[in-house]
Amino acid sequence: MALIEVRGLKKAFGDVVVLDGVDLDIERGEFVTLMGVSGSGKSLLVKMLIGLLPADAGTIRFDGEDVTHLPEHEWTPVRRRIGMLFQEYALFDSMSVFDNVAYGLREQRLMPEPQIAERVKESLDSVSLPDSADLWPKELSGGMKKRVALARAIAMHPEVVFYDEPTEGLDPINVTRVDRLMLRLRAEKGITSVIVTHNMQSAFKISDRLIFLHDGQVALTGTPDELRARREDPRLRHFVEASLKRLPRRSRPPGTPSEPPPVGVP
Ligand SMILES: Nc1ncnc2c1ncn2[C@@H]1O[C@H](COP(=O)(O)OP(=O)(O)OP(=O)(O)O)[C@@H](O)[C@H]1O
Ligand SMILES: [Mg+2]
Repeated sequence: MALIEVRGLKKAFGDVVVLDGVDLDIERGEFVTLMGVSGSGKSLLVKMLIGLLPADAGTIRFDGEDVTHLPEHEWTPVRRRIGMLFQEYALFDSMSVFDNVAYGLREQRLMPEPQIAERVKESLDSVSLPDSADLWPKELSGGMKKRVALARAIAMHPEVVFYDEPTEGLDPINVTRVDRLMLRLRAEKGITSVIVTHNMQSAFKISDRLIFLHDGQVALTGTPDELRARREDPRLRHFVEASLKRLPRRSRPPGTPSEPPPVGVP
């Protein structure tokens, strides 16, 4: 049984149908990347998987339990098993780094304060920010904010973490650093990892499997090698071109022509 099973998931806002029958399985320990053009519903899908927005139709199962229509108070034990890095940093500007990372632990009353302090230290150590506990969000660079948000997501020792654009806006050095960090968390703690990203290069490098959303459905899925073997698939070329167009010029790999890319897949 997959850890997360999604069947026929639908969501519309007024007349705008965003998700139109999403079918998806995420296995335990898997490192998967969710891709799709801007507005295709990636963030929406992730938010629905953690119960922040209700489904119009379809089912979501988490570890065998149907959570599609779970009342809010029954989500608490499920969310305790899930870490979330939101696309917006979602750090509280009025709280120190320490208090930001401790937030979920305190809110869920999981442990006494001395143990919280240990857990915060451990989490900040694992994102390579051991001396940042007393800093304030405004004192951090974009890359550091992402890593603090990551520390907060892993502080609860979740089984699965959703990372919504964890490397958006970062320079190549920080992209590599955050990629390695996510891989290490999977390797050391076995965390099932679902990453939303537009970064095709790193997605092909780090993922066990890629999932492409298009027209409200999973249009394509496969391992990097399987997708490379299908590099002429027009839908895949469409994604690659769309993602390259979206990249700012300076972060394109050197020598990448503006369009269309000669080789569809990294
Ligand atoms: N709470 C909401 N209320 C109304 N519309 C919403 C809501 N959440 C998402 N949408 C709409 O759903 C669509 C998909 O949004 P979503 O944020 O999931 O896109 P995305 O694939 O994450 O895009 P990006 O790559 O730019 O982050 C958009 O048209 C958005 O306006
Ligand atoms: Mg998004």
